Amino acid sequence: MDTNREKLKNELLDRLDQENMPAHIGIIMDGNGRWAKSRGKTRIHGHQEGARRVKGVVRFANDIGVRHISLYAFSVENWARPSFEVSALMRLIRAYIIRERNALHAEGVKFRLLGRMEELAPEIIKQANISTELMKNNPGLSLNLCINYGGRAEIVDAVKKIIAAGHKPQDISEELISSYLYCPELPDVDLMIRTSGEMRTSNFHLWRGAYAELYFTPVLWPDFDELELLKAIETYQNRERRFGKISEQL
Ligand code: IPE
Ligand code: IPE
Ligand code: MG
Repeated sequence: MDTNREKLKNELLDRLDQENMPAHIGIIMDGNGRWAKSRGKTRIHGHQEGARRVKGVVRFANDIGVRHISLYAFSVENWARPSFEVSALMRLIRAYIIRERNALHAEGVKFRLLGRMEELAPEIIKQANISTELMKNNPGLSLNLCINYGGRAEIVDAVKKIIAAGHKPQDISEELISSYLYCPELPDVDLMIRTSGEMRTSNFHLWRGAYAELYFTPVLWPDFDELELLKAIETYQNRERRFGKISEQL
């Protein structure tokens, strides 16, 4: 990071309001392909660079007191990409889980996959389970790697489980549905960040993101760093979250 960015980062860190941290940040890590294309590189190269970015952002989020982070790494829709790109992404995801395991554990982070597990390669599930088990008692941030994740799929899967459990219409409530999502203890998303300038949420955290503050940045994911995360959190801290009320009631 150059000195100007370092200086700005320290200023934003000083201004950070520890009483008003987003407990759960969701990040739609978008723009790997365009990042690579602008450098005359392959899309796969962009994904490799994107994967390298994750470590620093997660460590920093943990250091500044974020409790949960959801990283959208592969959507249910992404299966429709060319098969060589899908294979490369799956290889990268598996490699990431293995490579970062010990470092994440050393930082006190918890780890889990969020998504439709049964459609993923058993090897990815196996490696993820090793990490989840290893880190389950860690005190730090929980890293939720969203793979084969879709917000609608998550709700569909919850409905199936609710019916299979024999619930009656009068049992159905928002709390009940929440308790059947992929990871029931994960709280609502407070801040949803999307990189690369696209202004949509692409089926990410439909249920938990119902009242998320949205933050869109033109920065492409492989260029996203600690300073960019701080800018997003500062923006969040300057928003007024009214949840349907009026300012005077807050
Ligand atoms: C995000 O980058 C990574 C995944 C969706 C897996 P993209 O691959 O979507 O990058 P762009 O949007 O084509 O630039
Ligand atoms: C969203 O990015 C999914 C992930 C970041 C994993 P996409 O690039 O797939 O989304 P669209 O197609 O632009 O909506
Ligand atoms: Mg994209």
